[in-house]
Amino acid sequence: MDFKLVAEDSGSKARSGVISTDHGEIKTPIFMPVGTAGTVKAVHQRELKEDVAAQIILGNTYHLYLRPGLDVIEGAGGLHKFNGWDRPMLTDSGGYQVYSLANTRKIKEEGVTFKSHIDGSKHTFTPEYAIDIQRTIGADIIMAFDECTPYPCEYGYARESMEMTHRWLKRCCDRFDATSSKYGYSQTLFPIVQGSTYKDLREKSAETIASFGREGNAIGGLSVGEPAEMMYEHTEIVCNILPKDKPRYLMGVGTPENILECIALGVDMFDCVMPTRNARHGLLFTSEGIINIKNEKWKKDYSPIDEALGGYVDTFYSKAYLRHLTHSKEYLGAQIASIHNLAFYLWLVDEARKHIEQGTFIDWKNVMVKKLTTRL
Ligand code: GUN
Repeated sequence: MDFKLVAEDSGSKARSGVISTDHGEIKTPIFMPVGTAGTVKAVHQRELKEDVAAQIILGNTYHLYLRPGLDVIEGAGGLHKFNGWDRPMLTDSGGYQVYSLANTRKIKEEGVTFKSHIDGSKHTFTPEYAIDIQRTIGADIIMAFDECTPYPCEYGYARESMEMTHRWLKRCCDRFDATSSKYGYSQTLFPIVQGSTYKDLREKSAETIASFGREGNAIGGLSVGEPAEMMYEHTEIVCNILPKDKPRYLMGVGTPENILECIALGVDMFDCVMPTRNARHGLLFTSEGIINIKNEKWKKDYSPIDEALGGYVDTFYSKAYLRHLTHSKEYLGAQIASIHNLAFYLWLVDEARKHIEQGTFIDWKNVMVKKLTTRL
């Protein structure tokens, strides 16, 4: 993997760049649609390319390991071959899903033992095993195994957990460096900064993570229920320490507003279930503001969903039709709404990149944030 900075904004810490992987290039800042189980829910791969313009998608170690299982993925020749997505992919390590989804888990120095949310079967993830699994899944960017602390979190717990995450990172790196990719293209490992909402812990974690000298770095443990201002504060502390010449990935963030504010703080990569999850409930993010497509207001609004985006789905289908589909719980409603929300997120980061490169980012961002948070 390689990262080249293209432009830096003079009015903020925003930057644009290009990540190169063996599956192609990613222009940053970027949003990565979440494809938990090897599929972005309700959107097929051709639509992801042609309608959403996704450059990289996410998969989850926890889900793919439980179902379909490593033998099925390895038999296909890796996740790219299995799901037909030939652009870059990133997998999360399970260091978040184990805490948020699995039943009864026990965290020890050796690793985490948990029961599957699917059938109650018992499993253990160690840092080494999380790397082995991600070697078998075969994403271009893989994540270190960490503990994502909840909010609020007591200082003592946050410190001990962070220190364990750092020891786990050493074990992840040792395993990663002692093994190689199974499918003939290269993989890279991103470590994750933790430290909850404590400034000194965040600084310590960012310094420790930076000292590993990996090709990119992630910020975890945020957007877990803390106020947005607190999330920005800790993102800023960490971005000011992580190296400038490597991509920075803020995990699980966020709303369109969160993304623009964190781009201004120097974040390059984002992922979140919000656009797809909200779409399935009829909540649309548009270039004019937020729409609840179920509302009476859209019943006879035959205008396109969001003409400014210029894509097929947004110009072809009307708000009234999408409202009807959503009310009728039709699959096509979930499909159109998911494509729209993802296309909007990809449009937003692309606009941000253009404004960074034109030197007009901050003024544009301030206007956009006001617009995007308006409920129509
Ligand atoms: N996704 C959102 N937050 C986190 C985190 O802290 N760790 C991991 N592994 N994944 C995340």
